[in-house]
Amino acid sequence: MHAFIDETHLPDDVTVTALRELAERLARSAGELVRTGRPDRVEVASTKSTATDVVTRMDADSEALLRREIAAARPDDAVLGEEEGSTGGTSGITWVVDPIDGTVNYLYGVASYAVSVAAVVGPPDPARWTVLAGAVHSVVDGRTWTAGAGAGATLDGVALQVSEPAELAQCLVGTGFGYDAGRRGAQARVLVEVLPRVRDIRRLGSAAIDLCLVASGELDLYYERGLNPWDMAAGALVAQEAGARVTGLHGRAAGHDMTVAGGSSRVAELVELLEGTGADTDD
Ligand code: IPD
Repeated sequence: MHAFIDETHLPDDVTVTALRELAERLARSAGELVRTGRPDRVEVASTKSTATDVVTRMDADSEALLRREIAAARPDDAVLGEEEGSTGGTSGITWVVDPIDGTVNYLYGVASYAVSVAAVVGPPDPARWTVLAGAVHSVVDGRTWTAGAGAGATLDGVALQVSEPAELAQCLVGTGFGYDAGRRGAQARVLVEVLPRVRDIRRLGSAAIDLCLVASGELDLYYERGLNPWDMAAGALVAQEAGARVTGLHGRAAGHDMTVAGGSSRVAELVELLEGTGADTDD
């Protein structure tokens, strides 16, 4: 991900500011649907990669709303969404959307779930894209993080700047786990190495919110293996624009194999620890 964008390389009708405003409007609009439309008892509509990787009716409804509003505002842009996959466009911009990030929390009524919306150029692959703008709307409490490439990050309009504890041992670290049992076994073995070396671990259940919490200082560090593009597009930009380093292991970009975020010195220590445990493999 690149921190600074030369706006002359954007399509003529586009500014980072306009994309950021649209990302926020879209995330808030879908968030309103998710908030007001949640039944007392949420049913599982279908499952995806495993029996615990669930889809609810609201995942589909929220993505449909996002796609309708994107088509109305910017009909030539492409969309990559968690539920419906890829729809092509001609403008060079792709909207990468997660209609509910933290679906298991939505299912159970646990408060950490969000709508995540980002505009990217380049292939919709975290290792190769450039994220231009993003917004993460936390549905239950209404908090909204936004960022524009080279233009900083905000929480409810207040500018964010990451600070970092002096030692890894004082860091509160967020992480998450995949839906596959084999992957989880490997993630548990990594956790055994990480947990004794940090202040504590949080598994809150929405990667998008976790990345934003790094930006707003509610987590010092975050790491996770297995993120999808829609889980991280907006949140990684928010973290980065708040001054965080967002990276993978072994000099690779953040992405599916591993995403680590936080202040740069403590990220360097966590990266070394994770590399030592083979945290970007499932062995
Ligand atoms: C999941 C959440 C979770 C993370 C998983 C993601 P979903 O997204 O972000 O925190 O640990 O890796 O798949 O399935 O709720 O959209």
